[in-house]
Formats: sequence, C-alpha cells, structure tokens
Amino acid sequence: MAERTLLGICGSLRRGSFNAALLRLVPRVGSDVTVIGADLAGRLPLFDPDVENDESSWPDSVRGFRAAAARADGVVIATPEYAHGPAGVTKNAIDWLVGSAGLMGRPTLLMSASPSQAGGMRAHAPLMPTLTLLGAVLVDCVVVSRAGSRVDAGGEYVDPAVVERVRLAVAELEDALAYSETRQAVSPLEDPL
Ligand SMILES: Cc1cc2nc3c(=O)[nH]c(=O)nc-3n(C[C@H](O)[C@H](O)[C@H](O)COP(=O)(O)O)c2cc1C
Repeated sequence: MAERTLLGICGSLRRGSFNAALLRLVPRVGSDVTVIGADLAGRLPLFDPDVENDESSWPDSVRGFRAAAARADGVVIATPEYAHGPAGVTKNAIDWLVGSAGLMGRPTLLMSASPSQAGGMRAHAPLMPTLTLLGAVLVDCVVVSRAGSRVDAGGEYVDPAVVERVRLAVAELEDALAYSETRQAVSPLEDPL
C-alpha cells in the first residue's frame, strides 16, 4: 500500500484533548498513513485577509500550515463542539485554506469527540457547506461520545469500539485516495465518469 499523507486539523487547544487523541489514533489504525500539521491549527493567528494577501508577512505557523496542506493527499479534521457549533480554532484553520486550493478534491474525514452523549456531532453540520464550497470530498463522519471512558491513563483511545470505528473510517479514506489516484492516472476519454 502506498504511503499517504494526511493534513491533520485539531480544533482543540486543551491539554489532554480527546480530539487530538483521535488524530493520534489515525496512523495507529491506517495501513500506511502519516498525519502532518496536527499541531498547527491551534497556533495560527486569527484569519486576516490583509496578512494572507501579503505572503512576506506570513508567520511560520501560516507558512507551515499552507505547505502541509499543499503536500497532503487527504485531510482529517478532529473538532470539539462548543455551544452546539464547531470550535473557532477549527473554522479559523479552514479559513486559512480558502485562498489556496488546500482542500480541493481532498478526501476528508470529519471527527469529533466529547464527554457528552452526543459526542460533538453538532459541530459537523455547520462545517459541511464550507467543506463542500472548498471542494473537500467528505468520506465519513465519526462521533465519539463519552470520550473520557474510552481512553487509558495516558489519554490514548483503547476502547475497541472507537478503535474499530476509526479504523473503518480511515480505510474508507484510503479507498477514496486510491480511487482519486486511479482517476488521475486514466485519460478523460477512458474515464467513464
Ligand atoms: C464552553 C464550552 C462549551 C461546550 N459546549 C459543548 C457542546 O455544546 N456540546 C458538547 O458535546 N460538548 C460541549 N463542550 C464539551 C467539550 O466538547 C469537551 O470539553 C471536549 O472534550 C472538548 O474537546 P477536547 O477534549 O478535544 O478538548 C463544551 C465545553 C466548553 C468548555
């Protein structure tokens, strides 16, 4: 299996974040995937079009994040739900990609984790129109409820149900990546779609 690089977007700044742990789980369950940039979303400044328009003024975090997005084959977002919406950190990171083709055509996995029973699922719907507008190909949404009961003392997911759910989602992402690579390899005349 070819090695795949995924841009990680973590919407939490919290030590011991259940969403950061979801991103760490991805390479554990993927056959050959690397997650890059997962620590960058939380270090980005608030999005400012004036800064974006003047590349010489970009801080290292923006430069690194945009470079990671350009390198990535796919995207994995893990976002907290705050007040029934996605964390501002998540939306801010996506805003920094609007002016690039950072999400265009990229198979994307959207995840959330929360100690609540709903597992942060209400963070997903508001992000979908944005992801669609930017051309992301949403392949699956994962919700982890009662997250505190599913990690070990070190904060890593050990609950078999969570590990298996994320494994299936990452496998689906890998299938989507393989499909898009195949489509790029055939000429438009040969491609029935
Ligand atoms: C101000 C605030 C608002 C929150 N609102 C919600 C919410 O609407 N729904 C929910 O499921 N959890 C909510 N939570 C709980 C967070 O989702 C929870 O703290 C989660 O673990 C945050 O993600 P993290 O572990 O990755 O930091 C809220 C937490 C805070 C501090």
